[in-house]
Parts: sequence; C-alpha cells; structure tokens
Amino acid sequence: MDIDYGPLTGLIGSWKGDKGMDIAPEPDGIEEAPYWETIDFEAAGDVTNAESQTLAVVRYHQIVRRKSNDEVFHDQIGYWMWDAASGTVSHSLAIPRAVCVVAGGAYDGSTNPVVLEVGAKLGDADWGIAQSPFMRDNAKTTAFSMKVTIDGDRLQYAETTGLDIYGRSFDHTDENELTRS
Ligand code: HEM
Repeated sequence: MDIDYGPLTGLIGSWKGDKGMDIAPEPDGIEEAPYWETIDFEAAGDVTNAESQTLAVVRYHQIVRRKSNDEVFHDQIGYWMWDAASGTVSHSLAIPRAVCVVAGGAYDGSTNPVVLEVGAKLGDADWGIAQSPFMRDNAKTTAFSMKVTIDGDRLQYAETTGLDIYGRSFDHTDENELTRS
C-alpha cells in the first residue's frame, strides 16, 4: 500500500534557495551571513513504534553555503515524521557540532499552503535537545523552533535556535526561500 506522508508529502524533492540569511553569535557581537543552500528530501517509508504508533518518514540533507565565498558553513541531516493518528509532526535533526534536536508540534490542518511548526526546549519532557558536555558548557542550545511553509514548488522556513554562549543568551536565526527543481 502506498504510504501517506500527510502534510510532509509536499517536502519530497530537491530544493534550492539563494535568499538565506543567518544571524550567528560572535564573541563581541553578531555575524549576519547571506547564504544559499540545497535541501534534498526523500520519502523514507514508515516505521512502527511499540506496535502501536506508525510514523511516515521523510529524510533530508541540507547543505548551506556562504554567498561571499560559496564555502559550506552548515551541514544538517534529519527526518520529518508524520503521525496521522495523533496529528503530530516531528522533526529530528543532527548538526556536526555534537548537537541533536527532537522537535514536535500539532499539525494545524492547513493544506494550501501547508504550514509545519515544531519546537523543542532543553530539559523539556516532551520535545528535547541533546548535546555534548563541551557544548553544554560553552555554547549551549536551549531551545529550537521552526516554521516551514510549503506552497507547491515554493518553500519558506524560519528557525530560531536559542543559545547560551559568550556569557549571554542569543537568538541564532536562519531563514530562506527555496524552489523545487
Ligand atoms: C541554515 C542553518 C544554520 C546556519 C547557516 C548556521 C550557521 C552558524 C554559524 C555561522 C555559526 C557561528 C560559528 C562560529 O562562529 O564559528 C553558528 C553557531 C552555532 N550554531 Fe548554527 N547555523 C544554522 C543552524 C543551526 C541549528 C539548526 C542549530 C542547532 C539546533 C545550530 C547550532 C549552533 C550552535 C550551538 C552554535 C554555536 C557554536 C559557536 O558559535 O561556536 N545552528 N551557526
């Protein structure tokens, strides 16, 4: 039987966007870096958990390059999952700084465009964050939230990663608009 990816169906495909803006912390200020990126989303089948929960799974790889020199400055892999029975969308992601996030949220039912919103907080009992001891002590991720809007072959996202770094709290933000090729 065909798998129903629900609100994740519109993610599947190869996307590219060059309107990205990253705001990242520096010891004495911020860095604003315009970027372009590719994200490849693939249908990855479904899984059953504890013989009772079924998740439809979309896997992705995101590669982000600085516009100023075309060098990769962010690489991220992850899964989006759809639980049709509870109407829950979840997003697990890993970045190569020894940080992982499992974010989730209720799907609001919107279909045109489709809007996905997920969040996680450090220490949250439901949707959480795991990181290495070094990151916990020096560049702690405290929260993550993301909103994705899928409108046919156009995708927009905005995400905020809460950090405790350089003795202050910092909202590290990223947003971009992509089109499907
Ligand atoms: C398009 C997405 C993203 C881009 C382009 C990006 C880029 C950056 C940049 C340029 C820095 C500063 C690095 C430095 O000063 O050496 C940074 C720091 C950081 N980012 Fe991201 N980031 C993205 C998404 C994320 C996400 C999703 C997370 C975690 C959920 C994350 C976690 C961190 C952490 C923990 C740091 C602090 C490390 C440090 O500055 O030394 N980032 N990011």
